[in-house]
Amino acid sequence: MFKNDQLTQWDQDHFFHASTHLGQFARGEMPNRIMTGGDGVYITDREGVRLLDAFAGLYCVNVGYGRSEVSNAIAAQAQELSYYHSYVGHGTEASITLAKMIIDRAPQHMSRVYFGLSGSDANETNIKLIWYYNNILGRPQKKKIISRWRGYHGSGLMTGSLTGLELFHKKFDLPLANVLHTEAPYYYRRTDRSLSELEFSSQCAAKLEAMILEEGADTIAAFIGEPVLGTGGLVPPPEGYWAAIQQVLQKYDILLIADEVVTGFGRLGSMFGAMHYGIKPDIITIAKGLTSAYAPLSGSILSDAFWKVLEDGTDEYGPIGHGWTYSAHPICAAAGVANLALIDTLGLVQNAASTGAYLQASMKNALGDHPHVGDIRGEGMTCAVELIDNKQSVQSFDAARKVGPAVVAAMLKRGVVARAMPQGDIIGFAPPLCLSEQEADLIVAATTESVVEVLG
Ligand SMILES: Cc1ncc(COP(=O)(O)O)c(C=O)c1O
Repeated sequence: MFKNDQLTQWDQDHFFHASTHLGQFARGEMPNRIMTGGDGVYITDREGVRLLDAFAGLYCVNVGYGRSEVSNAIAAQAQELSYYHSYVGHGTEASITLAKMIIDRAPQHMSRVYFGLSGSDANETNIKLIWYYNNILGRPQKKKIISRWRGYHGSGLMTGSLTGLELFHKKFDLPLANVLHTEAPYYYRRTDRSLSELEFSSQCAAKLEAMILEEGADTIAAFIGEPVLGTGGLVPPPEGYWAAIQQVLQKYDILLIADEVVTGFGRLGSMFGAMHYGIKPDIITIAKGLTSAYAPLSGSILSDAFWKVLEDGTDEYGPIGHGWTYSAHPICAAAGVANLALIDTLGLVQNAASTGAYLQASMKNALGDHPHVGDIRGEGMTCAVELIDNKQSVQSFDAARKVGPAVVAAMLKRGVVARAMPQGDIIGFAPPLCLSEQEADLIVAATTESVVEVLG
């Protein structure tokens, strides 16, 4: 659409890219890649190079690229009613229908959806609502939020604070007050190697409880966690983790936010991670797979019990002072309606379970014995290959060697996009949920050849 010889120069001169080394980019020291097309699990760049996108954009294009069911719904909605707001009781057919479709798919005790535009703003909403909730309940001191090291919850002020990755705090004056971080459920990286998964889970829960007691349970409002750690390294929880954590939270009357921005709508082979792991959250954060990123849309799904307190609050204090112009935007909601229907029609939740298991098994077959592959893990349509300097002592490579990015660059030459996860030499995979076994084979072959090219 935008054939223009100067595009690369304009990109370098004017476009502020997210999560990018700005200096290197502006000086032309790193590659720019301008995407122009997508079809199924493939994307195409401006040079005509076709790549298998084994990370589904940013683990968000769940139904795959180029689905006319979704793009037609967007076009039809734009034509019929391009916008109306959701303030003061207003809505649109698309936004109300989507809320109903979400509640039909969510755990039974959930009853309301507030729509935002990004995972970050949904989590910001969640924290505001939790503070409001505790004020309504007359416990104004119960405000702190506990997150995990390696958790990712966005890059806003509060959500960047909740994110437990140093890069997102450094030089931003984050984390803000009222945010605490506890142990990551990262069994492979446990310090005490003698612990079983169950013992490690109990230890994580014990550390959480110790933190709560030290801070005072009456100051802790909520715990936020992804069912499977995503950006922190694609780490499924160790056995018994969520049961142990929830027991502690219930004991001290602490709310649970399940951040399902990545895991919602099928990624783990279940509709939600909450069902997959028997989690009973008060709030579920959704985004990405809600529209398969055909349009920006997020949501906070609230339990009925939590909602009732908000209702009481407005009876006492008047309308809730929270909302954005684009909340529940009808074009995005129409994309969501078409997308959720398509996930069902194509059986993508089931495919995420079966083809995801095939991908993990094939990866283990191909690379499990490699001397520098320490761990291969995954759940549903996710997979991670953790590279390690010394397998016996679980000693990482010197970060300056940038082993992970080198493997990902070698994969790109072979036509496969994977993600070098930001902390540690971890190659991440989260392909569209429509991946076939043949396409999984291509991912495994490219990974194997690239690991051997970089590490021997
Ligand atoms: C678990 C989780 N929560 C929140 C976010 C933030 O979403 P967004 O980038 O749409 O703000 C992300 C983004 O990757 C995420 O993975």
